[in-house]
Amino acid sequence: MKTYSIALIPGDGVGKDVTQAAWQVLRAAAKRGGFGLEGTNFPWSCAYYRKTGAMMPKDGIEILRKFDAIYLGSVGWPAEVPDAVSLHGLLLPIRKAFTQYANIRPHRLLPGVQGPLRSEGFDILCIRENTEGEYSGAGGRVHSGTGNEVAVETAIFTRVGVERIIRFGFEQARARRKKLASVTKSNAQKYSMVFWDEVTREVAKEYRDVEVSHYHIDAMAARMVMAPESLDVIVASNLFGDILTDLGAAIQGGLGFAASANINPDREAPSMFEPVHGSAPDIAHLGIANPIAAIWSGAMMLEHLGERNAAGEVMSAIESVTARGIGTIAGKDRTEAITQAVLAAITEGAEERS
Ligand code: NAD
Ligand code: IPM
Ligand code: MN
Repeated sequence: MKTYSIALIPGDGVGKDVTQAAWQVLRAAAKRGGFGLEGTNFPWSCAYYRKTGAMMPKDGIEILRKFDAIYLGSVGWPAEVPDAVSLHGLLLPIRKAFTQYANIRPHRLLPGVQGPLRSEGFDILCIRENTEGEYSGAGGRVHSGTGNEVAVETAIFTRVGVERIIRFGFEQARARRKKLASVTKSNAQKYSMVFWDEVTREVAKEYRDVEVSHYHIDAMAARMVMAPESLDVIVASNLFGDILTDLGAAIQGGLGFAASANINPDREAPSMFEPVHGSAPDIAHLGIANPIAAIWSGAMMLEHLGERNAAGEVMSAIESVTARGIGTIAGKDRTEAITQAVLAAITEGAEERS
Protein backbone atom coordinates (compact mmCIF):
# COMPACT_ATOMS: atom_id res chain seq x y z
CA MET A 1 0.00 0.00 0.00
CA LYS A 2 1.31 3.41 -0.91
CA THR A 3 1.79 5.52 2.22
CA TYR A 4 2.49 9.25 2.33
CA SER A 5 4.33 10.79 5.26
CA ILE A 6 2.82 14.07 6.38
CA ALA A 7 4.32 16.58 8.81
CA LEU A 8 1.50 18.00 10.91
CA ILE A 9 2.02 21.42 12.49
CA PRO A 10 -1.26 22.37 14.22
CA GLY A 11 0.28 25.62 15.56
CA ASP A 12 -1.77 28.01 17.66
CA GLY A 13 -5.38 28.75 18.58
CA VAL A 14 -7.98 27.30 16.22
CA GLY A 15 -5.15 25.84 14.15
CA LYS A 16 -5.17 22.92 16.57
CA ASP A 17 -8.93 22.31 16.24
CA VAL A 18 -9.10 22.52 12.46
CA THR A 19 -5.99 20.37 11.94
CA GLN A 20 -7.53 17.66 14.10
CA ALA A 21 -10.73 17.91 12.06
CA ALA A 22 -9.00 17.83 8.69
CA TRP A 23 -6.74 14.97 9.69
CA GLN A 24 -9.71 12.76 10.65
CA VAL A 25 -11.33 13.45 7.28
CA LEU A 26 -8.12 12.87 5.32
CA ARG A 27 -7.50 9.56 7.09
CA ALA A 28 -11.04 8.43 6.28
CA ALA A 29 -10.56 9.40 2.63
CA ALA A 30 -7.23 7.56 2.52
CA LYS A 31 -8.80 4.42 3.98
CA ARG A 32 -11.46 4.50 1.27
CA GLY A 33 -8.87 5.22 -1.39
CA GLY A 34 -6.62 2.34 -0.39
CA PHE A 35 -3.56 4.41 0.47
CA GLY A 36 -1.93 5.32 3.75
CA LEU A 37 -1.36 8.68 5.43
CA GLU A 38 1.17 8.66 8.22
CA GLY A 39 1.17 11.83 10.29
CA THR A 40 4.03 13.06 12.47
CA ASN A 41 3.02 15.77 14.86
CA PHE A 42 5.24 18.79 15.53
CA PRO A 43 4.20 21.04 18.44
CA TRP A 44 5.95 24.08 16.92
CA SER A 45 3.94 27.12 17.97
CA CYS A 46 3.97 30.16 20.23
CA ALA A 47 3.66 27.84 23.27
CA TYR A 48 6.77 26.02 22.00
CA TYR A 49 8.53 29.39 21.66
CA ARG A 50 7.74 30.24 25.27
CA LYS A 51 9.30 26.97 26.37
CA THR A 52 12.35 26.89 24.11
CA GLY A 53 12.94 30.44 22.86
CA ALA A 54 12.40 29.41 19.22
CA MET A 55 9.36 28.64 17.04
CA MET A 56 11.00 25.47 15.76
CA PRO A 57 14.31 23.70 16.37
CA LYS A 58 17.43 24.88 14.54
CA ASP A 59 17.21 21.91 12.18
CA GLY A 60 13.42 22.27 11.76
CA ILE A 61 13.64 22.80 8.01
CA GLU A 62 15.87 19.74 7.57
CA ILE A 63 13.42 17.69 9.65
CA LEU A 64 10.51 18.75 7.43
CA ARG A 65 12.38 18.21 4.16
CA LYS A 66 11.99 14.44 4.23
CA PHE A 67 8.16 14.52 4.35
CA ASP A 68 5.89 14.14 1.32
CA ALA A 69 3.89 17.19 2.42
CA ILE A 70 3.36 19.55 5.33
CA TYR A 71 -0.06 20.28 6.77
CA LEU A 72 -0.32 23.38 8.95
CA GLY A 73 -3.15 24.83 11.08
CA SER A 74 -2.22 28.41 11.87
CA VAL A 75 0.59 30.27 13.56
CA GLY A 76 0.40 33.29 15.84
CA TRP A 77 -0.62 34.17 19.37
CA PRO A 78 0.06 37.89 19.54
CA ALA A 79 -0.90 38.23 23.19
CA GLU A 80 2.22 36.22 24.10
CA VAL A 81 4.63 36.34 21.17
CA PRO A 82 4.92 39.26 18.72
CA ASP A 83 3.57 38.25 15.30
CA ALA A 84 6.73 39.39 13.52
CA VAL A 85 8.68 36.92 15.69
CA SER A 86 6.31 33.93 15.40
CA LEU A 87 5.60 34.22 11.68
CA HIS A 88 9.21 34.93 10.70
CA GLY A 89 10.22 32.02 12.94
CA LEU A 90 8.01 29.31 11.43
CA LEU A 91 5.49 29.85 8.62
CA LEU A 92 7.41 32.26 6.40
CA PRO A 93 10.77 30.40 6.55
CA ILE A 94 9.04 27.16 5.50
CA ARG A 95 7.48 28.84 2.44
CA LYS A 96 10.85 30.31 1.49
CA ALA A 97 13.16 27.39 2.30
CA PHE A 98 11.09 24.95 0.26
CA THR A 99 10.59 27.43 -2.61
CA GLN A 100 6.83 27.13 -2.26
CA TYR A 101 6.55 30.04 -4.63
CA ALA A 102 2.95 29.53 -5.70
CA ASN A 103 0.30 30.10 -3.08
CA ILE A 104 -2.96 28.89 -4.61
CA ARG A 105 -6.19 30.15 -3.06
CA PRO A 106 -9.57 29.28 -4.62
CA HIS A 107 -12.57 31.55 -4.06
CA ARG A 108 -16.02 30.27 -4.90
CA LEU A 109 -19.25 29.77 -2.99
CA LEU A 110 -19.84 26.25 -1.74
CA PRO A 111 -23.44 25.08 -2.20
CA GLY A 112 -25.70 26.37 0.58
CA VAL A 113 -23.30 29.14 1.61
CA GLN A 114 -24.69 32.65 1.49
CA GLY A 115 -22.05 35.19 0.50
CA PRO A 116 -22.42 38.91 1.15
CA LEU A 117 -22.68 39.76 -2.57
CA ARG A 118 -25.56 39.63 -5.06
CA SER A 119 -23.27 37.77 -7.44
CA GLU A 120 -23.04 34.07 -6.68
CA GLY A 121 -21.57 32.63 -9.87
CA PHE A 122 -17.92 33.55 -9.37
CA ASP A 123 -15.03 31.08 -9.46
CA ILE A 124 -11.69 32.79 -8.85
CA LEU A 125 -8.28 31.21 -8.45
CA CYS A 126 -5.88 33.56 -6.77
CA ILE A 127 -2.20 32.81 -7.35
CA ARG A 128 -0.08 34.64 -4.84
CA GLU A 129 3.70 34.97 -5.13
CA ASN A 130 4.88 33.37 -1.91
CA THR A 131 8.63 33.75 -1.45
CA GLU A 132 9.73 37.35 -2.04
CA GLY A 133 8.31 40.81 -2.77
CA GLU A 134 7.10 42.74 0.24
CA TYR A 135 7.86 39.74 2.51
CA SER A 136 11.59 39.68 1.86
CA GLY A 137 12.34 40.70 5.42
CA ALA A 138 14.95 43.18 4.19
CA GLY A 139 15.13 46.57 5.82
CA GLY A 140 15.93 48.13 9.10
CA ARG A 141 15.47 51.00 11.48
CA VAL A 142 17.87 53.84 12.08
CA HIS A 143 18.01 56.67 14.59
CA SER A 144 15.88 54.62 16.99
CA GLY A 145 14.65 56.52 19.98
CA THR A 146 15.12 59.90 18.34
CA GLY A 147 12.53 62.12 16.76
CA ASN A 148 14.13 61.29 13.41
CA GLU A 149 13.62 57.54 13.43
CA VAL A 150 13.33 55.97 10.00
CA ALA A 151 12.00 52.46 9.23
CA VAL A 152 12.66 50.91 5.83
CA GLU A 153 11.03 47.74 4.49
CA THR A 154 12.48 46.70 1.16
CA ALA A 155 10.37 44.76 -1.30
CA ILE A 156 12.58 42.55 -3.45
CA PHE A 157 11.42 41.31 -6.84
CA THR A 158 13.77 39.12 -8.85
CA ARG A 159 13.44 38.15 -12.51
CA VAL A 160 13.45 34.48 -11.57
CA GLY A 161 10.81 35.04 -8.88
CA VAL A 162 8.47 37.16 -10.97
CA GLU A 163 8.80 35.16 -14.15
CA ARG A 164 8.05 31.83 -12.52
CA ILE A 165 4.90 33.03 -10.74
CA ILE A 166 3.57 34.76 -13.86
CA ARG A 167 4.22 31.63 -15.90
CA PHE A 168 2.50 29.54 -13.22
CA GLY A 169 -0.50 31.89 -13.42
CA PHE A 170 -0.68 31.51 -17.19
CA GLU A 171 -0.54 27.71 -16.89
CA GLN A 172 -3.43 27.76 -14.41
CA ALA A 173 -5.44 30.10 -16.65
CA ARG A 174 -4.80 27.86 -19.64
CA ALA A 175 -6.27 24.91 -17.72
CA ARG A 176 -9.36 26.96 -16.76
CA ARG A 177 -11.24 29.76 -18.56
CA LYS A 178 -8.11 31.24 -20.15
CA LYS A 179 -8.26 34.63 -18.44
CA LEU A 180 -5.40 36.02 -16.38
CA ALA A 181 -5.63 39.20 -14.32
CA SER A 182 -2.27 40.54 -13.20
CA VAL A 183 -2.39 42.84 -10.18
CA THR A 184 0.13 45.60 -9.50
CA LYS A 185 0.34 49.18 -8.36
CA SER A 186 2.54 50.35 -11.17
CA ASN A 187 1.08 53.84 -11.13
CA ALA A 188 2.69 54.47 -7.72
CA GLN A 189 5.43 51.84 -7.41
CA LYS A 190 7.73 52.71 -10.24
CA TYR A 191 10.39 49.99 -9.97
CA SER A 192 9.02 46.68 -8.76
CA MET A 193 5.55 46.87 -10.23
CA VAL A 194 6.64 48.34 -13.56
CA PHE A 195 9.10 45.44 -13.74
CA TRP A 196 6.26 42.99 -12.93
CA ASP A 197 4.14 44.46 -15.75
CA GLU A 198 7.06 44.15 -18.20
CA VAL A 199 7.67 40.52 -17.29
CA THR A 200 3.94 39.78 -17.62
CA ARG A 201 3.91 41.26 -21.13
CA GLU A 202 6.98 39.21 -22.10
CA VAL A 203 5.64 35.92 -20.76
CA ALA A 204 2.22 36.63 -22.33
CA LYS A 205 3.82 36.18 -25.76
CA GLU A 206 4.14 32.47 -24.96
CA TYR A 207 0.45 32.24 -24.00
CA ARG A 208 -1.43 33.96 -26.81
CA ASP A 209 -4.47 31.78 -26.13
CA VAL A 210 -4.85 33.41 -22.68
CA GLU A 211 -6.49 36.82 -22.38
CA VAL A 212 -4.43 39.04 -20.06
CA SER A 213 -5.71 42.05 -18.13
CA HIS A 214 -3.73 44.40 -15.91
CA TYR A 215 -5.32 45.89 -12.81
CA HIS A 216 -4.10 48.10 -10.04
CA ILE A 217 -4.63 46.55 -6.62
CA ASP A 218 -7.16 49.21 -5.60
CA ALA A 219 -9.27 48.67 -8.71
CA MET A 220 -9.02 44.90 -8.28
CA ALA A 221 -10.30 45.15 -4.70
CA ALA A 222 -13.40 46.93 -6.01
CA ARG A 223 -13.81 44.53 -8.93
CA MET A 224 -13.77 41.48 -6.65
CA VAL A 225 -16.80 42.96 -4.89
CA MET A 226 -18.63 44.53 -7.84
CA ALA A 227 -17.98 42.00 -10.62
CA PRO A 228 -16.28 38.86 -9.23
CA GLU A 229 -17.82 36.70 -11.98
CA SER A 230 -15.68 38.60 -14.53
CA LEU A 231 -12.51 37.10 -13.00
CA ASP A 232 -10.82 33.76 -13.57
CA VAL A 233 -7.15 33.53 -12.46
CA ILE A 234 -5.57 36.41 -10.54
CA VAL A 235 -1.81 36.63 -10.13
CA ALA A 236 -0.44 39.00 -7.52
CA SER A 237 2.62 39.76 -5.42
CA ASN A 238 3.01 38.39 -1.91
CA LEU A 239 1.37 41.26 0.00
CA PHE A 240 -1.26 42.13 -2.60
CA GLY A 241 -2.16 38.45 -2.85
CA ASP A 242 -2.40 38.22 0.93
CA ILE A 243 -4.85 41.10 1.10
CA LEU A 244 -6.92 40.03 -1.90
CA THR A 245 -7.33 36.51 -0.53
CA ASP A 246 -8.89 37.69 2.73
CA LEU A 247 -11.23 39.70 0.49
CA GLY A 248 -11.78 36.54 -1.55
CA ALA A 249 -12.54 34.69 1.69
CA ALA A 250 -15.09 37.34 2.62
CA ILE A 251 -16.99 37.07 -0.67
CA GLN A 252 -17.07 33.27 -0.36
CA GLY A 253 -18.81 33.52 3.01
CA GLY A 254 -15.94 34.03 5.43
CA LEU A 255 -12.49 32.88 6.46
CA GLY A 256 -13.88 29.53 7.53
CA PHE A 257 -14.23 28.62 3.83
CA ALA A 258 -10.94 29.81 2.32
CA ALA A 259 -8.37 27.11 1.54
CA SER A 260 -4.78 27.39 0.40
CA ALA A 261 -1.86 25.42 -0.95
CA ASN A 262 1.76 26.59 -0.82
CA ILE A 263 3.19 24.75 -3.77
CA ASN A 264 6.71 23.98 -4.90
CA PRO A 265 5.78 23.29 -8.52
CA ASP A 266 9.15 21.69 -9.27
CA ARG A 267 8.54 19.15 -6.50
CA GLU A 268 12.13 19.28 -5.29
CA ALA A 269 10.87 19.98 -1.73
CA PRO A 270 7.62 19.41 0.16
CA SER A 271 4.61 21.67 -0.40
CA MET A 272 2.50 22.94 2.50
CA PHE A 273 -1.25 23.06 2.92
CA GLU A 274 -3.13 25.33 5.36
CA PRO A 275 -6.31 27.36 5.56
CA VAL A 276 -6.06 31.08 4.70
CA HIS A 277 -7.20 32.07 8.17
CA GLY A 278 -5.11 32.54 11.28
CA SER A 279 -5.37 31.36 14.87
CA ALA A 280 -8.59 33.34 15.48
CA PRO A 281 -7.85 34.25 19.14
CA ASP A 282 -11.37 35.68 19.48
CA ILE A 283 -12.98 32.24 19.06
CA ALA A 284 -10.12 29.92 20.05
CA HIS A 285 -11.07 27.37 22.74
CA LEU A 286 -14.79 27.76 22.00
CA GLY A 287 -15.00 24.76 19.67
CA ILE A 288 -16.81 26.76 16.99
CA ALA A 289 -14.09 27.32 14.37
CA ASN A 290 -15.27 26.26 10.95
CA PRO A 291 -13.04 23.36 9.81
CA ILE A 292 -14.16 23.52 6.16
CA ALA A 293 -11.28 25.75 4.99
CA ALA A 294 -8.84 23.35 6.62
CA ILE A 295 -10.52 20.25 5.18
CA TRP A 296 -10.60 21.83 1.71
CA SER A 297 -6.87 22.59 2.09
CA GLY A 298 -6.44 18.90 2.91
CA ALA A 299 -8.22 17.98 -0.32
CA MET A 300 -5.72 20.20 -2.14
CA MET A 301 -2.96 18.21 -0.47
CA LEU A 302 -4.42 14.89 -1.66
CA GLU A 303 -4.68 16.31 -5.17
CA HIS A 304 -1.03 17.41 -5.02
CA LEU A 305 0.01 13.95 -3.83
CA GLY A 306 -1.68 12.50 -6.91
CA GLU A 307 -4.71 11.08 -5.06
CA ARG A 308 -7.22 12.80 -7.30
CA ASN A 309 -10.16 10.50 -6.52
CA ALA A 310 -9.77 10.87 -2.79
CA ALA A 311 -9.46 14.65 -3.18
CA GLY A 312 -12.69 14.66 -5.20
CA GLU A 313 -14.41 12.58 -2.53
CA VAL A 314 -13.42 15.03 0.18
CA MET A 315 -14.72 17.96 -1.89
CA SER A 316 -18.00 16.16 -2.63
CA ALA A 317 -18.40 15.39 1.07
CA ILE A 318 -17.82 19.05 2.01
CA GLU A 319 -20.30 20.17 -0.65
CA SER A 320 -22.99 17.74 0.41
CA VAL A 321 -22.63 18.94 4.00
CA THR A 322 -22.84 22.66 3.18
CA ALA A 323 -25.72 22.02 0.75
CA ARG A 324 -27.65 20.73 3.76
CA GLY A 325 -26.91 23.94 5.65
CA ILE A 326 -24.35 22.40 8.00
CA GLY A 327 -21.42 24.70 8.74
CA THR A 328 -22.80 27.52 6.65
CA ILE A 329 -23.78 29.97 9.40
CA ALA A 330 -20.99 31.37 11.60
CA GLY A 331 -21.04 29.90 15.11
CA LYS A 332 -24.19 27.76 14.61
CA ASP A 333 -22.55 24.35 14.26
CA ARG A 334 -19.65 23.22 16.36
CA THR A 335 -16.32 22.22 14.79
CA GLU A 336 -16.87 18.63 15.87
CA ALA A 337 -20.42 18.45 14.46
CA ILE A 338 -19.28 19.76 11.06
CA THR A 339 -16.36 17.31 11.05
CA GLN A 340 -18.63 14.37 11.89
CA ALA A 341 -21.02 15.40 9.12
CA VAL A 342 -18.16 15.46 6.57
CA LEU A 343 -16.91 12.08 7.81
CA ALA A 344 -20.41 10.62 7.48
CA ALA A 345 -20.74 12.07 3.98
CA ILE A 346 -17.49 10.37 2.94
CA THR A 347 -18.79 7.03 4.15
CA GLU A 348 -22.24 7.54 2.59
CA GLY A 349 -20.70 8.65 -0.69
CA ALA A 350 -18.55 5.53 -0.75
CA GLU A 351 -21.57 3.32 -0.02
CA GLU A 352 -23.60 4.96 -2.81
CA ARG A 353 -20.82 4.26 -5.28
CA SER A 354 -20.36 0.61 -4.30
P1 NAD B 1 -7.67 35.41 11.75
O1 NAD B 1 -7.79 34.85 10.40
O2 NAD B 1 -7.12 34.53 12.80
O3 NAD B 1 -9.12 35.91 12.24
C1 NAD B 1 -9.86 36.92 11.54
C2 NAD B 1 -11.36 36.73 11.85
O4 NAD B 1 -11.82 35.54 11.17
C3 NAD B 1 -11.67 36.53 13.32
O5 NAD B 1 -12.87 37.19 13.64
C4 NAD B 1 -11.83 35.03 13.44
O6 NAD B 1 -12.68 34.61 14.50
C5 NAD B 1 -12.41 34.64 12.09
N1 NAD B 1 -12.03 33.27 11.72
C6 NAD B 1 -10.79 32.84 11.37
N2 NAD B 1 -10.79 31.53 11.13
C7 NAD B 1 -12.05 31.11 11.33
C8 NAD B 1 -12.68 29.83 11.24
N3 NAD B 1 -12.01 28.72 10.88
N4 NAD B 1 -14.01 29.75 11.52
C9 NAD B 1 -14.70 30.85 11.86
N5 NAD B 1 -14.16 32.08 11.96
C10 NAD B 1 -12.85 32.21 11.70
O7 NAD B 1 -6.82 36.74 11.61
P2 NAD B 1 -6.14 37.68 12.75
O8 NAD B 1 -7.09 37.84 13.89
O9 NAD B 1 -5.64 38.86 12.02
O10 NAD B 1 -4.89 36.85 13.22
C11 NAD B 1 -4.80 36.10 14.42
C12 NAD B 1 -3.41 35.49 14.51
O11 NAD B 1 -3.22 34.54 13.46
C13 NAD B 1 -2.27 36.49 14.35
O12 NAD B 1 -1.21 36.04 15.14
C14 NAD B 1 -1.92 36.40 12.89
O13 NAD B 1 -0.63 36.84 12.61
C15 NAD B 1 -2.08 34.92 12.66
N6 NAD B 1 -2.34 34.52 11.29
C16 NAD B 1 -1.76 33.34 10.90
C17 NAD B 1 -2.03 32.83 9.64
C18 NAD B 1 -1.40 31.55 9.23
O14 NAD B 1 -0.86 30.83 10.05
N7 NAD B 1 -1.42 31.19 7.97
C19 NAD B 1 -2.92 33.49 8.80
C20 NAD B 1 -3.51 34.69 9.24
C21 NAD B 1 -3.22 35.19 10.50
C1 IPM C 1 -1.56 34.23 5.30
C2 IPM C 1 -1.16 34.98 6.55
C3 IPM C 1 0.34 35.18 6.60
C4 IPM C 1 0.77 35.94 5.36
C5 IPM C 1 0.83 35.95 7.85
C6 IPM C 1 0.35 35.28 9.11
C7 IPM C 1 2.30 36.17 7.87
O1 IPM C 1 -1.85 36.19 6.63
O2 IPM C 1 -1.10 33.09 5.11
O3 IPM C 1 -2.38 34.75 4.52
O4 IPM C 1 0.66 37.16 5.30
O5 IPM C 1 1.24 35.28 4.44
MN1 MN D 1 -3.33 36.46 5.10
